[in-house]
Amino acid sequence: MPKVTFCGHSCVLFESAAGNAIFDPFLTGNPSASHTPKEIPKLSAILLSHGHGDHVGDAVELSKRDGAPVIATYELASYCESQGAEAVGMNTGGSYDLGWARVKLVQAFHSSSYQTAEGFIYTGMPNGILVTVEGKTVYHLGDTALFSDLGLIARRNGPIAVAFIPIGDHYTMGIEDAVEAWNLIRPSAAVPVHYNTFPPIRQDPDRFAAKVGALGGAVRVLAPGESMEF
Ligand code: NI
Ligand code: MN
Repeated sequence: MPKVTFCGHSCVLFESAAGNAIFDPFLTGNPSASHTPKEIPKLSAILLSHGHGDHVGDAVELSKRDGAPVIATYELASYCESQGAEAVGMNTGGSYDLGWARVKLVQAFHSSSYQTAEGFIYTGMPNGILVTVEGKTVYHLGDTALFSDLGLIARRNGPIAVAFIPIGDHYTMGIEDAVEAWNLIRPSAAVPVHYNTFPPIRQDPDRFAAKVGALGGAVRVLAPGESMEF
């Protein structure tokens, strides 16, 4: 069975018999990271929701290590390529066949740029990311506000086995809006992400779990380093 591991903040390691991928590999400098880059198994894809540093993280180094492409919006993928990564540049609404899994980028309401000492680099639109393997789909929402087309995305691409939903507030939706996001997506399991890494996004994930539970849903609160099969 495929397996996902929450690596802290918004980073999720996706492992299956056919291949491994990672979402938003912010490990170095992440106070809640469960893994160092060295501890991440060999990858065949690195999936980036957007260009912010707490999502791009170690993407370029992991790509160089494993020869795995960074898959992201064209501008962000091209920036990573300019830094020495392999890259597959896509755009919102497009999908890509990895051979062992299908990746699709979908809307997210956020901003996207990469900050360097020289200033901000434009990295295109932010996205949510769907990965389908062995007939099962996981949906990493990326950083996003609540929007009603989460329901359309779930209807077009579902059923969703596992949804990674940001709950931290301040930079993304908070718990109340995340509950409505859950209601629109109705995944078999929801895993809260993007909270408690830094003081502005301090949240109680059990409060999210209780609210979704009251609606009949299932939330898995994963501690950094904890895995679930699906
Ligand atoms: Ni962000
Ligand atoms: Mn973020």
